Amino acid sequence: MKYTLMHKNISVADIEIDDDIGVITGIEAVYAKEHLPVGVLHPLHHKETVDKAALNHWWAGRSIPASRMGIGEALETLGVYNTQILVTKCLGLSLSDHYWVKPADSDVSWESVNFFDNDFSDDVGDVLFGTSRKSAGFDLVSPDNTSDGNLKKRWKIIDGKRCLLKSGSDPFRQQPFNEVIASRIMNRLGIDHVPYTVIWNDDKPYSVCEDLVTKETELVSAWRIMQIRPKANHENWYLHFVNICKELGVDIVPALDRMIVLDYIIGNEDRHFNNFGLLRNADTLKWLGAAPVYDSGTSLWYNRTAEQIPMSEIICKPFKKSHGEQLRLVSSFDWLDFDKLNGVESEIYELLTEQKVIPYVGIERANAIAAEVEKRIDHLHNAAMAEISNHDISSTEGDVEEDTAETYGMKIE
Ligand SMILES: Nc1ncnc2c1ncn2[C@@H]1O[C@H](COP(=O)(O)OP(=O)(O)OP(=O)(O)O)[C@@H](O)[C@H]1O
Ligand SMILES: [Mg+2]
Repeated sequence: MKYTLMHKNISVADIEIDDDIGVITGIEAVYAKEHLPVGVLHPLHHKETVDKAALNHWWAGRSIPASRMGIGEALETLGVYNTQILVTKCLGLSLSDHYWVKPADSDVSWESVNFFDNDFSDDVGDVLFGTSRKSAGFDLVSPDNTSDGNLKKRWKIIDGKRCLLKSGSDPFRQQPFNEVIASRIMNRLGIDHVPYTVIWNDDKPYSVCEDLVTKETELVSAWRIMQIRPKANHENWYLHFVNICKELGVDIVPALDRMIVLDYIIGNEDRHFNNFGLLRNADTLKWLGAAPVYDSGTSLWYNRTAEQIPMSEIICKPFKKSHGEQLRLVSSFDWLDFDKLNGVESEIYELLTEQKVIPYVGIERANAIAAEVEKRIDHLHNAAMAEISNHDISSTEGDVEEDTAETYGMKIE
């Protein structure tokens, strides 16, 4: 079927989508090149043409990943073969950016369809969460069709606000609590972040955060930014990203310093390039700077037993394979006031041993996690003292080889 790819009310390009498989089969005319999704222009054609493969990659990235927990069952209930088919059911609309597709024979406006102003159905969210009472007749108009990430999640309008609800993974379901702990640490350190809280549904914990995107702004992941141009030979992953941001007029270094430090403290294992990014104004396309830190839940030994915690090797992303190595990318610790972290380990222990949390996390694990965080803060302190001799942003040693999102399961070591 023929569609126009839209950015709010701007017609960007006429495209053809095979609705049976959810694939873009043709790009017919481009009207607003500058409004195309970031990173889809052909590098070999001097960025004069749209790279169909890159545009399809972007489009496929709008669908729920096949690795999403419980997606097979959900698709069966909804009666669709794959998640890409779901995207056009909601015109490709999302709550993380302002792209959508308008059927060629339609004259609907952005105002009448966008999910920021207009309500959306709970049907897809209910199916994704396994709480649907329907078996047919689903209303598929939902931003859940275009949400990324591997954990079970859904958008819900709570008190008029668009909120993202996210589960944890078995057996400890710790990610929602980790999001809260990360929020508290960032609060203490004055790091710009998306605040998370926990809600309980059917005795299961979910993290809740508000939409970080507004009707004017949109999130562009670091991964997309890095598609703007190929990595130069002299650049490692870190410099590739930093330099492109600079080319866009954004000094990203202070935000990266803060994110790397947070991830060191909480032992984050999944800060891949889609778990941070930039904000831009969707109307003027002006780059606004780093997006507030979000998705820090795959951390704090979320899948390790109490015995494993002290001796676990922690995966590091996105720049270096080890957190110690990645810490050497930090340009300045001047902003970091260690006094602000006083007592954080007790705060973590208390949160993880609240009555409702204990059955999930366990007291021994809570103890071990709090103790490890304390050790990591000590190490960080030493690293910060030695910063000048250690700082090295240009080495390619220890760079991450392949950046993929964590799929969830118990760690067997
Ligand atoms: N508060 C928010 N506002 C708008 N968009 C968001 C928000 N939080 C997350 N997103 C978008 O939704 C995507 C999925 O969310 P999130 O990263 O939290 O899920 P996840 O399942 O933990 O991901 P992963 O697979 O990285 O573990 C993000 O990559 C981002 O594009
Ligand atoms: Mg994520």
